Amino acid sequence: MAYLHGHHASVLRSHSWRTVENSCPHLLPYLNNPSLKILDVGCGPGTITVDLASRVPQGFVYAIDPSADVIEKARKHAEEKGITNVRFEVGDIFDWKSLDGVEEAGFDVVHVHQVLQHLQDPLGAMKEMKRLVKPGGVLAVRDCNYQAMDWYPEHPGMQKWKELYIKVAEGLKAYPNMGKMLHAVALQAGFPREDIDASIGTWTFSTPDERAFWCGLWADRTVKSDYKQRSLDSGFAKEEDLEEIAATWREMEKKEDGWFAVINGQIICHVR
Ligand SMILES: C[S@@+](CC[C@H](N)C(=O)[O-])C[C@H]1O[C@@H](n2cnc3c(N)ncnc32)[C@H](O)[C@@H]1O
Repeated sequence: MAYLHGHHASVLRSHSWRTVENSCPHLLPYLNNPSLKILDVGCGPGTITVDLASRVPQGFVYAIDPSADVIEKARKHAEEKGITNVRFEVGDIFDWKSLDGVEEAGFDVVHVHQVLQHLQDPLGAMKEMKRLVKPGGVLAVRDCNYQAMDWYPEHPGMQKWKELYIKVAEGLKAYPNMGKMLHAVALQAGFPREDIDASIGTWTFSTPDERAFWCGLWADRTVKSDYKQRSLDSGFAKEEDLEEIAATWREMEKKEDGWFAVINGQIICHVR
């Protein structure tokens, strides 16, 4: 299934802001060996990937994404940052066997951020990723939970945004609330409960700059990215609904007391 949002500039603006610190706090305790071999699945424009690579100077990060365009951007980003211990390849987690250099039990860390929620078969993906971790290594997974996203002040347009997003994603047989069920998927994939550490990481957008970033990118994404067409195709929204939602985000951006919270579920699964 094609990625719901696509890779419009308004989408990449959000992905490119991401770092290890703001997006993988759960993984930080496992990055203390500079020789780690890491696989980053669904790497997008690669800002987390390149940050990971800079933390394992004697190690290596292999990163895959099915979008050739975004892989090209990720390669460019690594080049600009002068990071060379990273390899970006066009690839799909369900077809890892076709990738040169990706082998069963081949990685100390397999990392995947905001990807499972977009798949129709997250359990299948979790099983494949489990196979790629060395004994003694970890699988680190993080996804948000749209149902639990919250904001201040109340605004009917925001509720409309959330309900529409969840309906569109579920209509595509994706899992917009994946963040709260990662541990359950890991259990089904065969990890014993005692080998799964579950926690929560949050993003808060409240200062004028934070609101300009988050509200601005959602306003643009609603009317400019692939998400627009998918919403229209779903039959749950018309052009005017999307215009109203985009205007709501613009209003939220301007509210001095505006506040937006994203809850991310995160798990570390230990492979024995
Ligand atoms: C929300 S983006 C996350 C990008 C990056 N991990 C980040 O957090 O900035 C989801 C990414 O998953 C990729 N993706 C979708 N299906 C995939 C699959 N089957 N295997 C690997 N990646 C996939 C998409 O192309 C997209 O770039």
